[in-house]
Amino acid sequence: MQETSGYFLKMKDRINTKIIGCEIISFDVIDSTNSYAKRMGTENVIEGMVIVAGQQRCGRGRLGREWMSPPDTGLYMSIILKPSLQLEEIQLITLMASVAVARAIEKTVNQKPGIKWPNDILLGGKKVCGILSEMVSSNEGMEYIVVGIGINVSAESSDFPEALADKATSLAAYVNEQGLSLSGDSKDKLFESVLEEMDKLYMLLLSVGCDGILSEWKHYSATLGNEIVIKSENEEISGVAEGITVDGRLTVLLKNGTRLNIHSGEVSIRGLMGYV
Ligand code: BTN
Repeated sequence: MQETSGYFLKMKDRINTKIIGCEIISFDVIDSTNSYAKRMGTENVIEGMVIVAGQQRCGRGRLGREWMSPPDTGLYMSIILKPSLQLEEIQLITLMASVAVARAIEKTVNQKPGIKWPNDILLGGKKVCGILSEMVSSNEGMEYIVVGIGINVSAESSDFPEALADKATSLAAYVNEQGLSLSGDSKDKLFESVLEEMDKLYMLLLSVGCDGILSEWKHYSATLGNEIVIKSENEEISGVAEGITVDGRLTVLLKNGTRLNIHSGEVSIRGLMGYV
């Protein structure tokens, strides 16, 4: 893996942030920006540092899945954060990142995306971005969080494998369907916007707590009010997604009238009506 000086580094002077993007490490090719950030270790990371790559050979998704990361068609990045949150509040960081990405995508394509709890961003009902937040901890507790963001930017619809054709999209594929096209510098602008939106929301979280984040998350939510199926290793249950708790768990009203606050840890959810 070789660090590059080029593409993303020029962005550093353009972005207007206090914490996020204070340092940018960029690679043409890497195994995974999240894995790299985790390997760096506590002594070498600074809060706000961003690791970004043009391609990932072993991009990772939630629940041990692969994240396809072909050269230059996506934005693959990880952001280091060191918030003083309780362990059970870490999910808020993923919600915050999903709002930041939703805002950045909205600016880029002029269309409101949806957030599918816990970590997917949808455009036209298909997944355009996934977020994987991972924690690095020691005996003393949490050392730092790695927020991994993968956004499909310029892939054509035909680039997605058949199994994903009705589930995944990219910004370019979406705007093409509308008879429009993306401008040549969309990826740069998107990168810049994600960092700036993350910075604003992180400042908000640190200064006034989670309320602002949660209300923005509700504004973009594609999950609340919908019937969903929650799949864990042992069972499948369905209910209606009713709300979000202050620590980012989804409140689900089950058919038998009981309510569950579910943590994203080991569950996957799907809508009864399609992917949402
Ligand atoms: C998911 O939807 O399952 C999460 C996907 C997260 C992908 C990003 S791409 C940058 C970062 N590095 C990784 O290996 N994964 C995350």
